[in-house]
Amino acid sequence: MGAFGRVLVMMAIVTLTRVSADPDMLQDLCVADLTSAVKVNGFTCKSNVTEEDFFFAGLAKPGATNNSMGLVVTAANVQKIPGLNTLGVSLSRVDYAPGGLNPPHTHPRATEIVFVLKGKLDVGFITTANVLISKSIKKGEIFVFPKGLVHFQKNNGKVAAAAIAAFNSQLPGTQSIAAALFAASPPVPDNVLSKAFQVGTKEVDKIKSKFAPKN
Ligand code: GLV
Ligand code: MN
Repeated sequence: MGAFGRVLVMMAIVTLTRVSADPDMLQDLCVADLTSAVKVNGFTCKSNVTEEDFFFAGLAKPGATNNSMGLVVTAANVQKIPGLNTLGVSLSRVDYAPGGLNPPHTHPRATEIVFVLKGKLDVGFITTANVLISKSIKKGEIFVFPKGLVHFQKNNGKVAAAAIAAFNSQLPGTQSIAAALFAASPPVPDNVLSKAFQVGTKEVDKIKSKFAPKN
């Protein structure tokens, strides 16, 4: 290989290293001390570690989907499994009622890969060039949502659906687009949303009212 080829290979290696998700670990384990007041990138390590720090049974059963979206996401991340701290992986279980929607959202820290446990889902993500990449997937099939891109899943079937989502982050973070814009606290100013969406402030307030906490 010539010098130019070697430079290209080096550049590819550097690029690949830069696109990794959570930082690499420097020790066997660092079980999160979720109660520590010390702030670090992740969580500080606790000293008394047991098998329970690496165990979670919370994805075994379907979650309740009787809400306005017909959806529940049950996370199995470092907040539930302290042993995941520094390991760069986590899972969620997603349950969808018939008609249920996981509304457009992003994960700032992870790529997501979903595996359909039961039912059918219409899924998609939108690239930064505003191209929609979408597909109908069914039990046993997989779809990938690249890191940071807006994505969604909809159960257009007549029966419940469920999926397992895997992430290359211990805490991928979820930002739901509608909630971020219309339910932020303090609120995003009406004149910002009105200009962004090219509608009147009345329409903006109407949408905001749908996201207001119900007492
Ligand atoms: C699905 O997109 C999820 O984030 O759980
Ligand atoms: Mn997601």
